[in-house]
Amino acid sequence: MSEPAVEVHNLAKSFRKSSGAARSGGAGARPAARGLFRRKPRAAPVKVLDVPSLDVRPGEIFGVLGPNGSGKSTLIRIISTLLLPDEGQVRVFGRDVVREPLAVQRMLNRVSADAAFFRKLSAMENLIHTARLYGLAQREGAARAREILSRLDLSREKMDAEMHELSRGMQQKVALARAFLTSPILMLLDEPTTGLDLKSKREVQTFILEIRRDHGATVLLTTHDMVEAEALCDRIAVIDEGRIRACGSAAELKIAAREKVAAPSGAEPTLEAAFLALTGRTMEDAEQEKENPA
Ligand SMILES: Nc1ncnc2c1ncn2[C@@H]1O[C@H](COP(=O)(O)OP(=O)(O)O)[C@@H](O)[C@H]1O
Ligand SMILES: [Mg+2]
Repeated sequence: MSEPAVEVHNLAKSFRKSSGAARSGGAGARPAARGLFRRKPRAAPVKVLDVPSLDVRPGEIFGVLGPNGSGKSTLIRIISTLLLPDEGQVRVFGRDVVREPLAVQRMLNRVSADAAFFRKLSAMENLIHTARLYGLAQREGAARAREILSRLDLSREKMDAEMHELSRGMQQKVALARAFLTSPILMLLDEPTTGLDLKSKREVQTFILEIRRDHGATVLLTTHDMVEAEALCDRIAVIDEGRIRACGSAAELKIAAREKVAAPSGAEPTLEAAFLALTGRTMEDAEQEKENPA
């Protein structure tokens, strides 16, 4: 057995939430009037991540599927060394994220919705800048940037337009391209297709599959799109309220769901039904609950 790409043991992370809205995504109830100098009551910490164990195998596309606020980004940020765990261990190809952050950082790259660019520079200029930071020669950096961007179907014209003129979908492609400049062996993609139009979404998904095929990279991605999880991922961890409710291939999750609830015979089980069976609520309800905490 080869070493896992990512190995998680007894991982826990808590945050202190303002107000009593323990499960709120942040936009929860706020006291109507707060005395100017009165101290806010110190909120109790809420465990937003509690993962006894999780393994991502080298070369696989592994999906973390869960509703808004379920802890997906927190998990990604801990693996990428941006956030420290409270308890437990996380290793990336055998290297501990807390004790060997530099070694871990050298192996991975993360793409998230908050990717920052030089807005007045073009996509090409942004990528060449990054290539230079990584020590790539100018010519090599430019060639590689152009190759990746054209694979993502970004036209020559768009490559040279200023970043702020590009659509969300295009900017996301540039973020992916930038993350791949240095061929990381682990790619952490935090909701890589959220907010994209259907066409961009497909292109980004195809690119993710190509990356795995051509570079043998391990991809850990988060999504709340079941269709995407099923189409892209070799295995999926279903996460809800910071807990992994099940982990396996889409087919395995469906079988597990069928065993849990007596599905109407003959009905083809879906991942949607699997989520319901595993968490006791639909993904939609889980998202609603986040937005309007009781
Ligand atoms: N820096 C933070 N401080 C306080 N609470 C946070 C912080 N980051 C995330 N949270 C909370 O942790 C929970 C999980 O958040 P997150 O990992 O961003 O979920 P997801 O990515 O699945 O939407 C949410 O309830 C969120 O409000
Ligand atoms: Mg998130």
